[in-house]
Formats: sequence, C-alpha cells, structure tokens
Amino acid sequence: MKTQIFSSDDLSLAKAADIIKNGGLVAFPTETVYGLGACGFMPESVNNIFKVKGRPNDNPLILHIGSYEQIYDLALEIPPQMDKLKKFMPGPLTVVLKRKSVVPDAVTAGLDTVGIRMPIQETANRFLKLCGVPVAAPSANISGKPSPTTFDHVVYDLDGKVDGIISGEVCSVGLESTVLDLSTGEPTILRPGGVTKEMLEAEIGTVYVGGDGNRPKAPGMKYKHYAPKAPLYIVEDVNEEISKHSGKKIGVMTTQNMSFDSDIIHFHLGDTPEDYAHNLFKALRFFDLSDVEVIISQDIKGGGICEAVRNRLYKAADNR
Ligand code: TXA
Ligand code: MG
Repeated sequence: MKTQIFSSDDLSLAKAADIIKNGGLVAFPTETVYGLGACGFMPESVNNIFKVKGRPNDNPLILHIGSYEQIYDLALEIPPQMDKLKKFMPGPLTVVLKRKSVVPDAVTAGLDTVGIRMPIQETANRFLKLCGVPVAAPSANISGKPSPTTFDHVVYDLDGKVDGIISGEVCSVGLESTVLDLSTGEPTILRPGGVTKEMLEAEIGTVYVGGDGNRPKAPGMKYKHYAPKAPLYIVEDVNEEISKHSGKKIGVMTTQNMSFDSDIIHFHLGDTPEDYAHNLFKALRFFDLSDVEVIISQDIKGGGICEAVRNRLYKAADNR
C-alpha cells in the first residue's frame, strides 16, 4: 500500500478526513502521542487498526472527538464530575463512561464502557472536526513498541501499512493520556498521564489508582509495552551498573546532566519532569536505532507527571 503524507493545512487535513469517512486508516499527531485513527462507527475499519498494529483484540480503543458535545452521542450517562473535568477536555485526559449502543463492540472490545478523549493540539482538533465522526485511535506504533512522539517514528512503524500519515507539531506532552474511569461511582485512574492525580483531586476530590487491591486496570496495561530491543535496567547508581556490563555496548539514560566515556551512548532526558515525559519515548526509540546491548536508566522519583514517566519506564524495563 502507498501511504499518503499530509501536511497540516486545511486542504490536506480535509483530504485525510475524507479517508477516515471512507473507512481508511490515518495516523495523526496529538499533544500526547500520534494516534492511528479509523471511523469509530465502522467496525471493519476499526478491526483493521488491530490488524495493522498486531494489537490483542481484547484491548479497547479510545474514541477521539473534535467538539465536547459529541460526548452526548456516545455516553449513556454523564456523571456529575464531568462538569469539573470539562476543563481538561480538550486535553490529555481520557474519560471512561458507560457507552451508548451506537458505539460498536469493535471499539470497546465488548465492554459496556467507552473511553473518550478530546485532544487539545491544534492540528488534531482541526482534523477531528473535519472528520465529524468520533475517531477510534490507539497510539500509532506497532504493538509492544514505544508510542510514537514524532512524525519520523510513525513513518518508521507504519509507512506502507496505512492510508495516510499527517505530519504535525511535535507531541508536547510525549506520554499517552491519563485514563480515568468514571463508570463505577469511584473515580479511578487506570493509566497515569499528563493530567495528574493531584490535578484531578483538586477538581473532584478523592481519586483512586487502578491496580491497587481489586480496582480494575485498563485492559491494555497488562500487555508488554514500550519495550526497547536491549534489556533496560533502572538503578540508583549508574556508574556502578556500567561496571557490571564491561565489554558490552552500553546506553545510558539520565535525568541529571552527567558525562561518560565516549564509547557510552548517553541520552539526557532533560531538566524538568515535563522534559522527562516529553523525551522518554524518543530516548527508547533512539536506543533501538543504535547498536546498544544494554540500557541503564536512572530512576525517576516524585509525584505529578513523574508518576506517569515512572509507569512507562518500569514497563519498558519489564521490572528489571
Ligand atoms: O494519549 C492517548 O491516549 C493516545 C492518543 C492517540 O490519544 N492513545 C492511546 O491509545 O494511548 P492506546 O490504545 O494506546 O491506549 C488506550 C488505553 C489502553 O490501556 C486501553 O486498555 C484503555 O486505554 N482503555 C480504552 N478504553 C477503555 C475502556 N472502555 N475501559 C478501560 N480501559 C480502556
Ligand atoms: Mg498504545
């Protein structure tokens, strides 16, 4: 398949939106990561997303909307907290709500809930408005790989496999959205992200975190994720760990600005928690393109967005 590349002017986005309306697949930028979109009302197109990504079919997709009002077409009930949470829509927040029957099983993997998100990034918003329909979209990577945060990442994974790719601004957040389950009466974070627990609690009071005790997790969180090719170790003392891998080509990822011998491939994640979020997937993909045999990372401490960075880092390390 020849993949068409679209820039972000209105005419190009309208062409890309036509592909969605006609049942095709288009990857598009958002403030979190690139998504791989299909019309959320066309089950066959939605199923093609799973095929292209090699995604397990019990893992539901998020529906992306361009205007807040579309939420009423999709959700059976709007819980009272939504009044306060509207301020993050648009934004890097996905809310899980009881779904209406118009939402196909192909999107929700048969669950009676649906994840809904309204991206704030300008290109994404214009594109989704032109689509007019809710757009089902997972991250635009091959399953198991780090989510793509640049146009180049998407081309690397999906060129020749999808109808179109929109090239847009870089993904400012760099990690996937916070998934907040509002379908049970106890607001629960199923996946940490750019809208932090603290930010949510400031609006709606106590928010639980999935995976503690018997609270559910997002189905997708059980799968191996974000795995770089080389084994990744998270350590307190980077230099001590380096000494254990002598003779190997080593990659090192740090939050502090450190210097190393010239045969070590070093990626500095940046100076602020926002930088770490923005750069983590870029770093993992950078190491994949290098010939490192082992990756050593400093641990990420602290609350706020660091929770989300740590969540992805530990998954990438597969608990090493
Ligand atoms: O930032 C994002 O959320 C990006 C961009 C493209 O919007 N999308 C994204 O989609 O990360 P994906 O499919 O890679 O991750 C969606 C996560 C999965 O862990 C999935 O299990 C969970 O959200 N999810 C989706 N619908 C759900 C539902 N109805 N109930 C529980 N979890 C759900
Ligand atoms: Mg994903």
